[in-house]
Amino acid sequence: MASLTVRQLDERLKQLLRLRAAKNGRSVEDEVRTILREAAEEPGPAQPAPVSPPTPAETAPAAATTKRVLLIISGGIAAYKSLDLIRRLKERGLAVRCIMTKAAEHFVTPLAAGALVGSRVFTDLFDPAHEFDVGHIRLARETDLIVVAPATADLMAKMAGGHADDLATAVLLATKAPILLAPAMNPAMWAHKATQRNLAQLVADGIKLVGPNEGEMAEARESGKGRMAEPLEIAAAVDKLLAAHLAPLPLTGKHVLITSGPTHEPIDPVRYIANRSSGKQGHAIAAAAAAAGADVTLVSGPVNLPDPIGVKTIHVESARDMLTAVERALPADVAIFAAAVADWRVANAGVQKLKKTAGQTTPALSLVENPDILSTIAHRRTQRPQLVIGFAAETENVIANAKAKLARKGCDWILANDVSPQTGIMGGDRNTIELVSADGVEPWPPQSKEDVAAMLIARIGAALSK
Ligand SMILES: Cc1cc2nc3c(=O)[nH]c(=O)nc-3n(C[C@H](O)[C@H](O)[C@H](O)COP(=O)(O)O)c2cc1C
Repeated sequence: MASLTVRQLDERLKQLLRLRAAKNGRSVEDEVRTILREAAEEPGPAQPAPVSPPTPAETAPAAATTKRVLLIISGGIAAYKSLDLIRRLKERGLAVRCIMTKAAEHFVTPLAAGALVGSRVFTDLFDPAHEFDVGHIRLARETDLIVVAPATADLMAKMAGGHADDLATAVLLATKAPILLAPAMNPAMWAHKATQRNLAQLVADGIKLVGPNEGEMAEARESGKGRMAEPLEIAAAVDKLLAAHLAPLPLTGKHVLITSGPTHEPIDPVRYIANRSSGKQGHAIAAAAAAAGADVTLVSGPVNLPDPIGVKTIHVESARDMLTAVERALPADVAIFAAAVADWRVANAGVQKLKKTAGQTTPALSLVENPDILSTIAHRRTQRPQLVIGFAAETENVIANAKAKLARKGCDWILANDVSPQTGIMGGDRNTIELVSADGVEPWPPQSKEDVAAMLIARIGAALSK
């Protein structure tokens, strides 16, 4: 390893190396790599002496295009998940360095984390060897993003107070890189006024968060808000932050509100009226919007799909619940209504299960109209999103019906599709869209629902930047 090689050099060479590194604005480690790389590339008969190749993690920070993430593991029970997070970050081609707090070492070993990172884990602020060739200021500087996962209540408190009494807090205070926290703690600790006060301070300081989620805690019989976001969620948040930080994405800073799936309209406590919408299109749009840098709220009816990663998903059942959730999620820059909302609900749904009694007539269901979510939002006087987009799922006269819907609902664009059973669109993986707007009708090619989503998001990005 380069750091070991440096330590084995004599003092005079070390001094020369330090001077050369300082002159070139590099770390001593990076300077050694540069020398070795130059020597390897140099033509001529003299072959460089065989050296053990640096690990990918060591070479990665030097490559101009490789993004560098510094992972800080603090002392929470969720620290074991950080080992998986290291793998998720590395499989994205990121160069990962790792710091562990003293408390973290009670939960996972630096050896395990170091084996996954591919280089030593930093644990000590007052480590002479480390200060020689890396140093806490260098750790703070030589990264594109710092991720704290898990972030304990204690570490959040120290950060909010500007403490710097160990390596993790000193680096967090010295860095100019964006910081992403994945808090993890007992729900009572999370809900405590002190933690919430610290959280508000950290958010005001520009620190980003992923999670915590609701759910089972590691402690027996404990559940609530405080569970660390899953490694894949954290990795998705890392992708988003790195992309936004290094090259702003088209929807960075925009709030996109999307509805998806069917609604269920109760007949009685156990029966309901539904439709065949799978939610695949709406969910694909939510994922594409998140990938484009937007803050996404997805209001989803009952579907058999996982919540898209990096998206705030609100689960609802009926059309009325969906409207309430949509209105609560405002303001939004863009609203896309992809849900197949039931037009009608049962007028007086039974409070108890309707019973089949011999000799009695079959109950008649009387229907009343549901609120029209698309029209309600498009006609709002306040907080109308800049771009309101609806879907028209038609089985006949697709374009004529879509044009009429555009005018009637007061929205900006309609994505019309033919959902006749023979098209296989409802519930299927592909879609054929015609975009209807004030500018006319634009047919899109038949494509996967993911490609439709990407095309729509690209169009939205272009429209917002006009
Ligand atoms: C078994 C055990 C589990 C713990 N889990 C958490 C946790 O999930 N979240 C948390 O904020 N603190 C947790 N703590 C408390 C922290 O370890 C303690 O506050 C420590 O000082 C944190 O140090 P650090 O922030 O420097 O890593 C736990 C303590 C123990 C003994």
